[in-house]
Parts: sequence; C-alpha cells; structure tokens
Amino acid sequence: MSSNWTNRQVILRFLLPITLVGIGVALYLVILPSLGLANPFLLLFPAVMFSALFGGIWGGLLATLISVVVGSYLMEPYGHLWIQSTTEFESLLVFFIGCGMFSLITEAMHRAQLQSQERAKKLTIAIEEKVYAQNNQIKALREAYAIKDQFLSIVSHELRTPLNSINGFGSILEDEIAGPLNQQQHEYLRKMLRGADLLNFLVNNLLDLTQILAGEFTITPSEMNLREVAAGVIDDLKSKAASKGLTLRFEGPDDLPPVLADEIRVVQVLSNLVDNAIKFTPEGGKIWVRACAIGAFLRIEVEDTGVGIVPEDIPKLFKRFSQLDMSATRKAGGTGLGLSISKAIIEAHGGEIGVESTPGKGSTFWFTLPLAGT
Ligand SMILES: Nc1ncnc2c1ncn2[C@@H]1O[C@H](COP(=O)(O)OP(=O)(O)O)[C@@H](O)[C@H]1O
Ligand SMILES: [Mg+2]
Repeated sequence: MSSNWTNRQVILRFLLPITLVGIGVALYLVILPSLGLANPFLLLFPAVMFSALFGGIWGGLLATLISVVVGSYLMEPYGHLWIQSTTEFESLLVFFIGCGMFSLITEAMHRAQLQSQERAKKLTIAIEEKVYAQNNQIKALREAYAIKDQFLSIVSHELRTPLNSINGFGSILEDEIAGPLNQQQHEYLRKMLRGADLLNFLVNNLLDLTQILAGEFTITPSEMNLREVAAGVIDDLKSKAASKGLTLRFEGPDDLPPVLADEIRVVQVLSNLVDNAIKFTPEGGKIWVRACAIGAFLRIEVEDTGVGIVPEDIPKLFKRFSQLDMSATRKAGGTGLGLSISKAIIEAHGGEIGVESTPGKGSTFWFTLPLAGT
C-alpha cells in the first residue's frame, strides 16, 4: 500500500469513518431510544459498511475500532468502557467479526476491480498502439499505391511516343518509300512491326488501367449494330483461329435490335473474349459468338470448347493481372488485364459481365449492353 496518501485517500480512510460513526452515534442517541431499541451496534454497522465501501480496509477497520469502543460505552449499562455482560460481549464479538470480514471482503473486491481496470487500461493502450501502427501502414501502402499508379501512367504515356515512331517509320520502310527491300528485309521488318503492335496493345491496356484506377475512365456511347461489330471481330481473328484448326462463327437473329454503346470499347471487349477463347481452346475446338435481346439488354456470349475454369478460380478472373495457370497462360501470352478492363468497360455501360464454365469441357463468357431507345 502506498505510504504517501493523497488528500482524497486521507478523507476517505480517516475523516469519513470518524464522521460516519459520529452520525451513527448521533442517530442512536436521538432516534433509537424513543423507538425502544437499545443496541447501538445496529446503527454503527451501516457506518462501518459505508466506511469500508469508500475507504477500503483502512476506513472499515478504523470505523470498526471506533465503533467497538463507542458501542461498548453506549450499551446498557450505559457509560462503561469495558464489557459488562454476556450480551454486550456477544454483541461486540459478532460486530467485530462481522465488520472485520465485511472490510476484508470489500477491500478484496476493490482490489480486484482496480486490477481489472488496470488490465483494461493496458489492453486499451495496446489496442490503440496497434491501430496507430496499422493506420501508418495503411497510409504508407496508399502512398506506395499512388506512386505506382503515377509511375504506370507516366511510363505508358512516355512509351507511346517512341512506339509511334517505330510504327510510323516501320510502315514507311515496308512501303519501300525509302528504297527497295529484299525478301529477307521484308520478313524481318514484318516481325519488328508485329512486335511493335503487341507492345502497342500492352501500352494501351496499361493506359486503360491507369484511367480506371484514377476513376477517369469514360465511354462515348452511340447507337450501334452488334452483328456488324461481331462480324468485324470474327474477321480479324479468323486466321488466328484457323491456325489452330478452330471453327469460329456467329449465331444470332438477323434483326438484332441496336445497342447504345461505345463501338471501339465493345470491339475491345469482344476481341479479348474471342482471343481468350482461341488461346484456351485446344486444336480442333469450336467457338461461337452469340447474341440475343433479353428485356432492355442485349446479351452477347462467347462460348468455347476449351480447357474451362474451375469454380474456385472464377472470382479471381476479373481481377487485375490475374492469370489462372501461369505456365499455360504464359505460353498463350497476355497480361491478365483483358478481363478486368472488359469488366470496367461493360460496367461503364451499365451492363454486366460473367462466365459459366465446366473444367475440361469449355467456358461461356457473357456480357450485356443496354438496347438503344429503352
Ligand atoms: N475462355 C477461357 N478459357 C479458359 N480460361 C480463360 C478463358 N478466358 C480467360 N481465361 C483465364 O483468365 C485469365 C485472364 O484473362 P485476361 O484477363 O483476358 O488476360 P490474358 O488474356 O492477358 O491472360 C487468363 O489468363 C486465363 O487464365
Ligand atoms: Mg485476354
């Protein structure tokens, strides 16, 4: 117990017990005789109780001691400090043991309460420190993310200029404007330009991604005919499909209603889905592009007889840079950005995108676009 007591502790441990016993005695002298009760300990017990409750063991014991002295003085025969009868002895004994025990129990409870308060305080401090550290970590992560986004944006913008000159001057060379080329030079140049095209595709994907991340991704919708767009995409990718022995065709009614969409972006989504279907369908397989109107939307599907996707991988598909089987997809090429960009494009149109798939049998990727004039 601390030796340098505070004023509050002095009041609670000394002054309060003395005052309460004083009040008890006063009440006894004023009220109880008129009611015909002669045992002063009846009123001194509450004084000890409150002293122990507020002043702990010190307050309780002090009140007990004073009460024992004052009580034996007040008990019949009145005015004697020492025990005069068995009744007085019994009263004193019961009072002393009762009050002592009460004081001890109160003190133990008080200490337990203090301990749990202390523990709770320590726990609160520990939690606060953890939250503070975590907040700092989150802040650092946000900053790192912002730097990464900025880096991505700068790099993709800066790559465009040199890429444009590679493409531009490459085309001039290929057209033999700067002089005739032999067979081998033509071949090498075509390979170079194909590489530049791929790089261009990648840079465009990164630019789209930076716009999506910055919340600056916009579309310019107008009325468009999905059948024509699908025919264009199939035409572009026909030879790639044919090189793997895949059949690729469109199925849908001639009178498809027009949709309200950004044509360039829809071509981008459909090309990615068909390109994926080609990449992940083994030789000799089939790919269908289908479209039909459902309510106020047009539903477009790309179905393949490819490798399929296991159910637990489906939620990962539309996340950035997510390629499921790294070895297989590395072989197929790509960045893992196509589907996440497609999702952003479709959602910007107010549509939905999804997939149903059976591993080993094939997949059906689908998306919806709003019909024009609804
Ligand atoms: N038709 C499909 N069949 C099987 N897996 C697919 C299909 N389309 C997409 N995937 C899986 O989803 C991943 C992400 O596709 P995507 O975002 O277009 O990126 P990328 O084509 O650059 O790999 C692919 O790497 C592949 O693992
Ligand atoms: Mg892709």
